[in-house]
Amino acid sequence: MINNNFINKYLRQTQDIYGDKLFLKINKVSNDANIVENSLDEFYHSINMCQKCQLGNSRKNFVFGIGDKNADLLLVGEAPGEKEDLEGVPFVGRAGKLLDKMLASIKLDRTKVYISNVVNYRPPENRRPTEEEIERYLPYLKSHIEIIDPEILLLLGSTALNTLIGNDVVISKARGKWIQKEIGAAKPWIIASFHPAFLMRQPEQKKLAWIDLKMIRDKSKILKL
Ligand code: URA
Repeated sequence: MINNNFINKYLRQTQDIYGDKLFLKINKVSNDANIVENSLDEFYHSINMCQKCQLGNSRKNFVFGIGDKNADLLLVGEAPGEKEDLEGVPFVGRAGKLLDKMLASIKLDRTKVYISNVVNYRPPENRRPTEEEIERYLPYLKSHIEIIDPEILLLLGSTALNTLIGNDVVISKARGKWIQKEIGAAKPWIIASFHPAFLMRQPEQKKLAWIDLKMIRDKSKILKL
């Protein structure tokens, strides 16, 4: 349940990250009674106005999140690629097609989960986001997780893993293990797995990703989701 304190914190973080002009715009929107219900939608539309973030300079679209806002499973990738930037939707390129297959293998699809990224703009040349960029977006990512408040958080790849769990872990060792961690007001069960783009480059690792997917399927049953 999203309360007013949460919305105020969310708006303050938005001001820090995206600047005063946008903050005023969103703050105005927040006076609308629908802000709680529609906070993600409102934020998405408002953020398209953002001119402050450098990553935003080369963007075509702000790539926010997609899926069921009430989902039990939230997936976090790294950053939008070219196709995502064109369409403004996460994971719609080749990696996204593989992600769809991975979800289908445990009888899920993108209407039943929620998907976002560590950063919401495509870094030029599809480079990995810098530490500075990741830091800049982290409060926002945390707010996003708080809003969705998932039971299970799937971190796709090392950028998502290192951003939310720390830089002292490596994906090859950390994947396939459950940890429960507070992220703001949320306390999801967290599991990391390989990023679909990595699996396309190293298909022999898909068997490990399959183990991780089955762990999610089994955890969902245990949690009666
Ligand atoms: N890779 C990601 O990490 N995120 C996307 O949205 C697309 C590709």
